[in-house]
Amino acid sequence: MVKAGLEVHTDAVANIVGIREGRSESPFVSTGSHIDTGVMWGTFDGALGVLGAIEAIRMLNDDKITTKLPIAIFSFTDEEGTYQGQAGSKYFARLLSKREVYETKNKYDGSKFADGVKNALMNDSLERFSIPTKNHIELHIEQGPILETENLQIGVVTGIVGIRWLYVTFRGKQAHAGACPMNLRRDPLIPASELALTVRQIALKHSEMVGTCGVINVKPNVINAIPNEATVGVDLRSLDRNELEQAMHEVMDASKQLAAKEHCEVEVHSVSEVGNPTIFPEEIVSFVRRNAESLGYSYRLMPSRAGHDTQTIAYIANVGMIFVPSRGGISHAPEEWTDVEQAHRGVKLLEECLIKLAQGK
Ligand code: GLV
Ligand code: MN
Ligand code: MN
Repeated sequence: MVKAGLEVHTDAVANIVGIREGRSESPFVSTGSHIDTGVMWGTFDGALGVLGAIEAIRMLNDDKITTKLPIAIFSFTDEEGTYQGQAGSKYFARLLSKREVYETKNKYDGSKFADGVKNALMNDSLERFSIPTKNHIELHIEQGPILETENLQIGVVTGIVGIRWLYVTFRGKQAHAGACPMNLRRDPLIPASELALTVRQIALKHSEMVGTCGVINVKPNVINAIPNEATVGVDLRSLDRNELEQAMHEVMDASKQLAAKEHCEVEVHSVSEVGNPTIFPEEIVSFVRRNAESLGYSYRLMPSRAGHDTQTIAYIANVGMIFVPSRGGISHAPEEWTDVEQAHRGVKLLEECLIKLAQGK
């Protein structure tokens, strides 16, 4: 960002912003994404939207283009939910206080955000950015197979799914794997396993929904002991808010019933609203689409079934997103890939959108 001539700041949750001045002071046009990642994740998820935005600014600089409005590039902290999901953008948009962010715990090692962030703060970090953004466009990889399958270059995003995370813990009785007879067991891994199957059934029953159990933790996790505790992490997503709320209640009810069958206790010990279903304003969708058309790119309109900081920014600005294809539709995995020509089309489209928005057109 510094090399691209931007004025760079960090804030109390280690968000980064790079500012390119305009002839007026406000409102801002903004873009950006996240550079945090997950364990055994990919290279492009998030990073493309930050590095691509810096590249778009370099292209503006090379062409000596100045704009009426200032442009901000954000790199938001913890989009992926190592702590809670979209924490940095929620803090920027004032949906979370500093205390709320600082108290959340790292899902991998249990440490507090407040401790981790110390390593990322600069001496002159601001408390919170004051960037009155009016229009915000995020560039991201698609993370699914649709653009590649349909041989298209660009996805013009129309909205983003809502996401709910639940951690369900079953508790039973630890005992010897050989000596405890089958009919006397209270094995928490049984309702936990059944819950994974039930989540699939619940998702299939709703038209707009996907459901995943990506976490299972068993204690003590030893081959010759019946476990005493099993926790399942459930990720539910839908474009329809009612469906999402209904599915959440179905998961909670099913957890109680499955626990009772095996004489186990159950606790849903954490439910988080990572993001709500978000429909982008029609003017932005058609603006991005017209720019894709004038660059001669093949495109389609599509919703995002992955979460993004843009759904948080939607609370304070008009938002839109640009997708580029993901090879094999793979993301949240080390095989994640997008060819440079494909990434470049996304950057070029982002540049066009930023120029026009920042000219106040
Ligand atoms: C974030 O990448 C998510 O969709 O979970
Ligand atoms: Mn992402
Ligand atoms: Mn991601």
